[in-house]
Amino acid sequence: MTIADDKKNRRRLLVTSALPYANGDIHLGHLLEAVMTDIFVRYHRLRGNEVLYVCADDTHGTPVELSALNQGVTPEELVGKVLENHIRDYSKYDISFDIFYTTHSEENRKYAELIYENLRKKNLIVEREINQYYCEHDNRFLPDRFVVGTCPRCKAPNQYGDVCEACGTTYEPTDVIDPACKLCGNRPVMRASTHIYVELAKREDFLREFINRPGVLQTDMKNFVKTWIDDGLREWCISRDGPYFGFKIPGTENKYFYVWMDAPIGYLSSTEKYCKDNGGDVMDYWKKDGPCEVVHFIGKDIVYFHALFWPVMLDSSDFAVPSSLRIHGFLNIQGEKMSKSRGTFILAHEYIEKVEHPQAAEFLRFYYGSKLSPTSADMDLNKEELITRVNTTLANNIGNLHHRAMVFCERYFDNRVPDAKWDEEIAAQVETAADEIANWYESGDFKLVAEKIQALGSVGNKYFQDQKPWELIKTGDKAAAGAVIVTCVNLIKALAVFLKPITPKISASFEKQLSLKLEWGDYRFSLSNHEIAAIEKLAVPFEESHLSALFAPITDLQKTGEL
Ligand code: MSP
Ligand code: ZN
Repeated sequence: MTIADDKKNRRRLLVTSALPYANGDIHLGHLLEAVMTDIFVRYHRLRGNEVLYVCADDTHGTPVELSALNQGVTPEELVGKVLENHIRDYSKYDISFDIFYTTHSEENRKYAELIYENLRKKNLIVEREINQYYCEHDNRFLPDRFVVGTCPRCKAPNQYGDVCEACGTTYEPTDVIDPACKLCGNRPVMRASTHIYVELAKREDFLREFINRPGVLQTDMKNFVKTWIDDGLREWCISRDGPYFGFKIPGTENKYFYVWMDAPIGYLSSTEKYCKDNGGDVMDYWKKDGPCEVVHFIGKDIVYFHALFWPVMLDSSDFAVPSSLRIHGFLNIQGEKMSKSRGTFILAHEYIEKVEHPQAAEFLRFYYGSKLSPTSADMDLNKEELITRVNTTLANNIGNLHHRAMVFCERYFDNRVPDAKWDEEIAAQVETAADEIANWYESGDFKLVAEKIQALGSVGNKYFQDQKPWELIKTGDKAAAGAVIVTCVNLIKALAVFLKPITPKISASFEKQLSLKLEWGDYRFSLSNHEIAAIEKLAVPFEESHLSALFAPITDLQKTGEL
């Protein structure tokens, strides 16, 4: 049955996408995550739930420091510029963040210090001395990325201290042959340094209980995380030696919080910033056992941090722990991993610039949505499939039905949705579909949502075709034609509701033509004798030529066998 949309039953959700690193542009993989989160967020807003969608740039750590160095700017300058670009790129795809902040903020420093202090109080912190490379010329300890040398495995020269880009092996900087300081080229020496660790194993019972809570993890992921716990929870090093772009650890000489310590805290501190600017209290969202559901959308590469470290950090300070971790796979392009050298690394702004169609962004949202289900399987972006999916559902099915019905209103019904009674059987089909669609939105099965929308559109087109309203008009049975048209317009209205989280602009266009603002409950048939404004096509078909500039370089490579 219908879910009451009244205030009493309103849910409160704090929803996040993972914080992108501030050392590069947003690419189509980041965007997959943002679109998936945004669909979920928009669905809940449409239901009348109270949602806060929070994200930020992840600004600290060695890669950012290195990028800044390479570009000849300070890390602060770099993250300031990148933040602007990120916000601009996401906005082109209508990602509806309530706030997009930065981890390089005073709020974030405050919470990093608070959580650290509480971890200490709970006796979860230990200090250990370790040996690390130190450059006596630059007077600094060298993070892995600042050590270069020959890969111990394949002997490729000039590799980083943690991974060989030639053979893919990961190792310790101490394994590297002929290590050198990336900054000055001198050979580093070994030096002892004391580091700060979180004793995760002390929270094993809590973590086992946490990952088993209903809804926290998909089943396959739960088993995966459980094996990590079974294999033994290792101590987690949260300190780095200065100089380091990050927050100084209170009570130390020259130690900084490791970027993965303060990164997830960005969820919390960005919420606080939002509340400061817009009213409300951070504890409305983050109170332990409070009314708010905290939902994190993340890629499968960062599960360890979110399923193990983060809950321990939160729980130590009596904040709410996540209600749900929504874990997705990776985006590939034309069957290939995203890679700069292969030309399959497509940036969010590049897609907009190169695809010659005004609905390019909306169509990509639809493509992603129509392929997403709640698994961590990878997704492929394929040119032919992109064209087919968009045209099959948006242009040829829904767009077509919409256009035919609206033209009838314009031509034969004086610019009005006819004053007639709709087909109850079709209204009933929509009613049943609404509950299914709601469940799929909730569970992240957007693929099934899109399939149901497609099916309902086909029902509408078949009905229109079978009823032949053009003949009814010709034979003077205007009332019968009116019943057909009123049914089709109401069906399109329902589809505009169901599509609104995925393709907000297409639904907005429909809303404008009917002077409506659609909420979830508006999937129900309700319109008759209703004025329409100028008709506008909901979707103009995608054609091969629109996409050639974007895909040509990749296709050429595939043809020459270079991929
Ligand atoms: N900064 C960390 C996250 C900190 S969250 C407290 C990070 N940043 S990232 O820029 O590398 O990735 C951000 C998100 O994008 C992650 O969830 C990651 O899985 C996702 N993706 C990065 N590349 C991706 C694809 N090619 N495909 C899909 N998602 C991808 O990790
Ligand atoms: Zn050096």
